[in-house]
Amino acid sequence: HDGHDLVVVANRLPVDITLDDDGKVGWKRSPGGLVTALEPVMQKSDGAWVGWSGGPDLEVEPFDADDMYLVPVTLSADEIERYYEGFSNDTLWPLYHDVIAPPAFHRQWWDTYRRVNQRFADAAAAQAAPGAIVWVHDYQLQLVPRMLREQRPDLRIGFFNHIPFPPLELFQQLPWRRAVVDGLLGADLIGFQRAGDASNFIRAVRRLTDYTTRGPIITMPDANGKPGRHVRAASFPISIDSNHFDQLARTPEVQARAKEIRADLGDPDVMMLGVDRLDYTKGIRHRIKAYGEILQDGRLDVGHATLVQVASPSRENVGAYQDLREHVEGLVGRINGEFGEIGHSAIHYLHHSYPPEEMAAMYLAADVMLVTSLRDGMNLVAKEYVAARSDDRGVLVLSEFTGAADEMSSGALLVNPHDIDGMKDSIVAAAHMDHREQRRRMRRLRRRVLSDDVAKWSDSFLGVLTAMPSRSEYV
Ligand code: G6P
Repeated sequence: HDGHDLVVVANRLPVDITLDDDGKVGWKRSPGGLVTALEPVMQKSDGAWVGWSGGPDLEVEPFDADDMYLVPVTLSADEIERYYEGFSNDTLWPLYHDVIAPPAFHRQWWDTYRRVNQRFADAAAAQAAPGAIVWVHDYQLQLVPRMLREQRPDLRIGFFNHIPFPPLELFQQLPWRRAVVDGLLGADLIGFQRAGDASNFIRAVRRLTDYTTRGPIITMPDANGKPGRHVRAASFPISIDSNHFDQLARTPEVQARAKEIRADLGDPDVMMLGVDRLDYTKGIRHRIKAYGEILQDGRLDVGHATLVQVASPSRENVGAYQDLREHVEGLVGRINGEFGEIGHSAIHYLHHSYPPEEMAAMYLAADVMLVTSLRDGMNLVAKEYVAARSDDRGVLVLSEFTGAADEMSSGALLVNPHDIDGMKDSIVAAAHMDHREQRRRMRRLRRRVLSDDVAKWSDSFLGVLTAMPSRSEYV
């Protein structure tokens, strides 16, 4: 065995590693979009997946899981704090999401980010067969492409950024902006969610480097300063396993559970639903504020309408997430105190995460789905809602600041979450939309979501990457 023909590198593995009482290592599949997209290609090409073992100082040997070869990378508690919670989630995350929260810049975090990226790159280099494809994922690992190329110029390297790439004016705040651009340019193909993200990146390359760009192609200088290899930057909007979700939502169990959820809520005329990681990018506060005002104005009332807000726990060691939780829970408490009645809560707030079956039942139960992100790379909840609605019912209220809005504008009600009055009008319109109009819109949405699924996404990215000229054609 001289290595794997495909190596995926991502901060997280597609499984959660578990330790039993005797310290014996096990694993359970973690529900994630990425693994459903990549599993078929991984199995076909005997792929390896490099990712963080998930705990502090957790050393686990590579192992097979569901016909994938998993390679855990060990991080110390300090590294988790500086690379993951710090640089990834308190510097890059807010910076790349329009500085909704202020990004913190710490040189120590950067040093650790570099060191950890090098560890991922080394692990990937050790797994890759000669001429293999290595596909690196997301903002936590932006330096890996270049680090890999330095050791392994034979590889074809792809990078996909799952979150937005910021406008130049914001990206320029990053003290290490040039190193990040050069890190990414180690790849042959750099994928983004939206065309706008790709053009933001190209602008950054133009401003921060003297490399030649022509449309989406960047030409890197070779060792003698002559034109060398090409890098392509383009958009590949990600999706979900739509058919799987559609099928799941058609099962009798899920259908029965959807009815039960509505009954437990007191069979409201209008059930509204929000489903998010508890993250300040999601516009949860804006949404709840708008909902509270709608009740205040008497345009909906708790006897007839209710909002279910699932807010799954996320990044709880990062200060901005702790502050957000305080805010959201304060707001929910105030609105429930003010407008709730015995037997009728204004908002059902659930700080949990749920398995896909339960999510599908909630989507089926909900008359109106609220996705009001202030900035969002794609937003897969919007696509899951649509995939679950084989009954052609339900209304999607969708923020124009999501990647999904680029594809779903003809069926969703698009909103600007900063415009509270506009959003209130759209939420009320959604609550009152007649069935014919719902069907007309949902059918459009479903055509798109069911045809552009996640398998198409990975095929198209890997297709473009494979079609690019190989290294030997440049020498
Ligand atoms: C976003 C990012 C992913 C990340 C996920 C969950 O979708 O693009 O890279 O894995 O959030 O966040 P977490 O920090 O828990 O991995």
